[in-house]
Amino acid sequence: MTLIRSVITGCGGYLPETVLTNDDLAKIVDTTDEWIVERTGIRERRIAAEGELTSDLGTAAAEQALERAETDARDIDLIVLATSTPDNTFPATAVTIQANLGIQHGAAFDLQAVCSGFVFALATADNFLKSGQYKRALVIGAETYSRILDWEDRGTCVLFGDGAGALVLEARKLNGAGLERGILASELRSDGRYKDKLFVDGGPSSTGTVGHLRMHGRDVFRHAVTNIADVITETLANTDYTADDIDWFVPHQANKRILDGTARKIGLDPDKIVMTVENHANTSAASIPLALNTALEDGRLKENQLVLMEAMGGGFTWGAVLARW
Ligand code: ACO
Repeated sequence: MTLIRSVITGCGGYLPETVLTNDDLAKIVDTTDEWIVERTGIRERRIAAEGELTSDLGTAAAEQALERAETDARDIDLIVLATSTPDNTFPATAVTIQANLGIQHGAAFDLQAVCSGFVFALATADNFLKSGQYKRALVIGAETYSRILDWEDRGTCVLFGDGAGALVLEARKLNGAGLERGILASELRSDGRYKDKLFVDGGPSSTGTVGHLRMHGRDVFRHAVTNIADVITETLANTDYTADDIDWFVPHQANKRILDGTARKIGLDPDKIVMTVENHANTSAASIPLALNTALEDGRLKENQLVLMEAMGGGFTWGAVLARW
C-alpha cells in the first residue's frame, strides 16, 4: 500500500547569546547553584537580548533547518509555530517568521500547548502532510520565557530559558515498510481540570496584561512522570516497536528528575536520553527541537535511527511522537 510519510529532512536551532548561570541568579533571588542543580539538573540558561523577539529566534532556527534540508524557503507551504510567548497577542508570530523567510504562499499559524507545543505542532503538521494538503512544512518551537517570568519568584524564575528549534518535514510517498523514515506515530492528550497548576496570570481577555508564569511545582511533578509514561506506551502501541528499539529518547527538557523518572518507568536505558536541560533549562516548546539539534550536531543522531519525543506542559497537555530520523 502506498502511503504518505512526513520525513524529517532538516533540523536547526538558535540560542540567544547571553548566558545566565545559577550563580548569576543567586544575585537576583535567594537561591544557590546547589539547590537548582540538585532539584532540576539546570546549570545555566540563555536569555534573549533586549529587542530580540520570539520571531527572531524562530526565524534563525528555521533558516538553519532549511539550509540543512537543502530546501528553498519558497518550497515551504506550511509553517506551524509552537509558542506561548508570541511577539504580540496577534497576528500569529508564525506569519512574521513567514514574512522574514520571504514566503508568500501556503499557511502559517501559531499553536499553543505550552511545553507540549512542539509535540502538538509536529503531530498537526504531520497530519496535514499525510492528508496531501501540504507538501513541505516548517515546524518551529520558539520561546522567550524570560519575558513572562516573575524575576522575584525563586520557585519559577530559575527553571526556564529562551531559545528556538525547527524541523523541516517533507511529504514523501512510501510503501509502508517498517524501516522507512518519517513520523510513525503520535498521541496527544489534554486535561483542563489542571489548568490552574501551571498558568500565566494575565491575558488579553482576563486582565488585559501579559502576566507572569505561576506554577504548583509539586503537582506538576507528580502528574508528569505518570502522564508521560502512559502516552509513550500508547504511542508505541500504535507501532510494532517497544522501548528496547528506541535509539534516542528526546524528551521535553523540564527537569532532570522528571526525565530520569520517565526513562525508568518505561524501561529505557538512561544512556539513550538526550539531555540538554543542564545548559538550556526549560525552553518550553523549543526544548525538543533544540535537543534534537544538539544530538545532531554532536554526531549522536543519525539517519534511520528511531527517535521518541515526548512532552508535558500547562493545561495539562501532554503527548509523544515516534519518528524514524
Ligand atoms: N532556591 C532555593 N530554595 C527554593 C527555590 C530556589 N530556587 N525554589 C523554592 N525553594 C524553596 C521553597 O521556598 C521551599 O522552602 P520552604 O520549605 O522553606 O517553604 C523549598 O525550597 C521546597 O519547595 P518546593 O517547591 O516544595 O520544592 P520541590 O522539591 O518541589 O522542588 C521544583 C521544586 C524543582 C519546581 C519541583 O517541584 C519540580 O521540579 N516540579 C516540576 C515542575 C516543572 O518542571 N515545571 C516545568 C514546567 S512543566 C513541564 O515542563 C513538565
